[in-house]
Amino acid sequence: MPLVPMRVLLDYAAENDFGVGAFNVNNMEQIQAIMTAARETESPVIIQASRGARSYSDDAYLRHLMLAAVELNPDIPIAMHQDHGNSPATCFSAIDQGFTSVMMDGSLMDDGKTPASYEYNVDVTRQVVEAAHPKGVTVEAELGCLGGIEDGHGAGLTGAEALAHLTDPAQAEEFVAATGCDALAVAIGTSHGAYKFTKKPTGEVLRMDVIKEIHRRLPNTHMVMHGSSSVPRELVDIINQYGGLISETYGVPVEEIQLGIQHGVRKINVDTDSRLAITGAIRKVFAEKPGAFDPRDYLKPARAAMAEVVKARMIAFGQAGHAGKVPKVSLEEMGRRYHDMAPAR
Ligand code: G3H
Ligand code: 13P
Ligand code: ZN
Repeated sequence: MPLVPMRVLLDYAAENDFGVGAFNVNNMEQIQAIMTAARETESPVIIQASRGARSYSDDAYLRHLMLAAVELNPDIPIAMHQDHGNSPATCFSAIDQGFTSVMMDGSLMDDGKTPASYEYNVDVTRQVVEAAHPKGVTVEAELGCLGGIEDGHGAGLTGAEALAHLTDPAQAEEFVAATGCDALAVAIGTSHGAYKFTKKPTGEVLRMDVIKEIHRRLPNTHMVMHGSSSVPRELVDIINQYGGLISETYGVPVEEIQLGIQHGVRKINVDTDSRLAITGAIRKVFAEKPGAFDPRDYLKPARAAMAEVVKARMIAFGQAGHAGKVPKVSLEEMGRRYHDMAPAR
């Protein structure tokens, strides 16, 4: 089966009350790790690439690696998603490269740092929806700004400033109606990267109540949780045990994500946990076998370690066992459906 529109996965997930992990990739081993986990758990998958990933791996390599994943796993529905598109141009180039879903992150200006106005966000998101939907491509938008900063992306908000940029549920209603986006990323106190919380998060800093209120107002909108790595202590410990230096930190507990899934969260973005698993495995090989210099000696365990963490998330989010049951809808068919759904002008 070819790459599928992400909207099909999210609609099916909503009908069956589960969430779908969206795992970031930069190279072949990460794609293989996700596909191993998907095969072993019979999960539909979302594989996503940031702008940095596209430039690191080069679009052509990435496209062919994704096509290889499709060819080798004909029974698994795979959506390919642009993570944090900073402008309509980035989203359009992703669509040209065969991505079946794009995120227009108009919560920030195109520098990926400066919080944008609501009007700017509506305008750029609307432009992307108008270009993507006729092609059957899914559009994720973001309202409110995540905390923190990672590899140059993010407004760097912390503390009270971050809390001031949480998603406003009333504005979310207006935004979804004004843009026609398929999925909405919400700011609820999470941030990208390994340093999210200084202690196990309580409801004051991880605002699951915002998710509940948005779901109450928009029961048919698919919500997306960014910055959803759980930063497991055991992965951090492996890195530190073998010479790394990650200070005490807390991520988003899996049970909070599961609560979100009960209240309309359908896509859960995870990158940091994969990075931690890979780095720990590589450090271990380097420490235990200082003579090793064949990249396969450390990339194989790295790939296996990432597959384990992805597998655990797929099971926890509930997508396991659903690969064969997702309706088969092509981009062309999805394009026709959007056309039929569009309000008459
Ligand atoms: O948006 C955050 C993801 O973890 C991607 O990070 O921009 O370093 O590839 P990146
Ligand atoms: P983490 O850094 O928590 O893995 O978040 C990834 C993410 O939100 C990608 O868009
Ligand atoms: Zn993100």
